[in-house]
Amino acid sequence: MSNRKGIALVNLDEDGVDLAFRADVLKGLGEAQKAIPARWLYDSAGSELFERITALPEYYPTRAETEILETKADEFAEKIGKGRAVVEFGSGSSLKTPLLLRAISPAAYVPLDISGEFLRAAADDLAAKFPGLPVIPVESDFMRRVELPAEAADLPKLGFFPGSTIGNMVARTSVDLLRTMRATLGEGALLLIGMDLIKDKAVLEAAYDDAEGVTAEFNLNLVHRINRELDADIPVDQLRHEARWIDEYARIEMHLVAEEDITFTVAGSQFSMRKGETIHTENSHKFDPRTSSTLLLAGSWTPVARWTDDEGRFSLILAEATIPRSAP
Ligand code: AVJ
Repeated sequence: MSNRKGIALVNLDEDGVDLAFRADVLKGLGEAQKAIPARWLYDSAGSELFERITALPEYYPTRAETEILETKADEFAEKIGKGRAVVEFGSGSSLKTPLLLRAISPAAYVPLDISGEFLRAAADDLAAKFPGLPVIPVESDFMRRVELPAEAADLPKLGFFPGSTIGNMVARTSVDLLRTMRATLGEGALLLIGMDLIKDKAVLEAAYDDAEGVTAEFNLNLVHRINRELDADIPVDQLRHEARWIDEYARIEMHLVAEEDITFTVAGSQFSMRKGETIHTENSHKFDPRTSSTLLLAGSWTPVARWTDDEGRFSLILAEATIPRSAP
């Protein structure tokens, strides 16, 4: 797959194996604490499972963020103003984007996504809902600076990064991304970013280990994917999903725990796990007003407004790309 400039976004070998996936899995399984980057959870089955997660009674973030967008539309209109190009990092297959667009009457909508398929489906959907709004999808890896299409380049920008996806990254990666977003959007841009809030450990752990077992299925789907795509024989039924709140890092960690000593092969390499050993598959960092401000400032964004849902579970923060004032 490549973008409109012919730059390859996904490299497959002659057997159709995603080389970055294989490299990440082999490297991650070779480490003392086994770990696989969370982005590999989202193949088509994983993305569908995540959609199901967003409707679970325990998984509050999607409902809380949607509530903010529904109830604070007037305030978004006031703080953001009309006529911006909305640049969404990740194409919203969600209901959130239309809520934002309705609130602020933008001049263009530019979704960025690495998956061309997702991108076009989401763009078509949005274009149908907003006749007259220029919808300009750009197939791109937004972890790198993206050159915006000419139709949007001269408009004032609003970056939109909902879902607390920033929470999937460790601090240095999220700071890199925030700075890259600023480079993509330019001086004077605004950024509306969702950040999930620190709360009771039991509430957090339940949100990532639901009674119906959908999150467990989502986590274990990664193992099915490895077995299918990387010629592997990991015994899926000997791994158990676990969600742990790690207070020191203010994050939920998802792990796959070996219930017995196991040995398996992935793409010709052998690995083993002792009973109780885990593969770390995702981080979901949670924030409070101060830590979210520090992160944004470190990423070269100045917070200017914040909103939470009625129960104070989730926050949407508006930040501005302004020239940083030098100390003190
Ligand atoms: C898509 C990253 C926002 O961290 O809450 C949900 C992913 N993982 N349940 C999150 C997820 C398990 C989700 N994000």
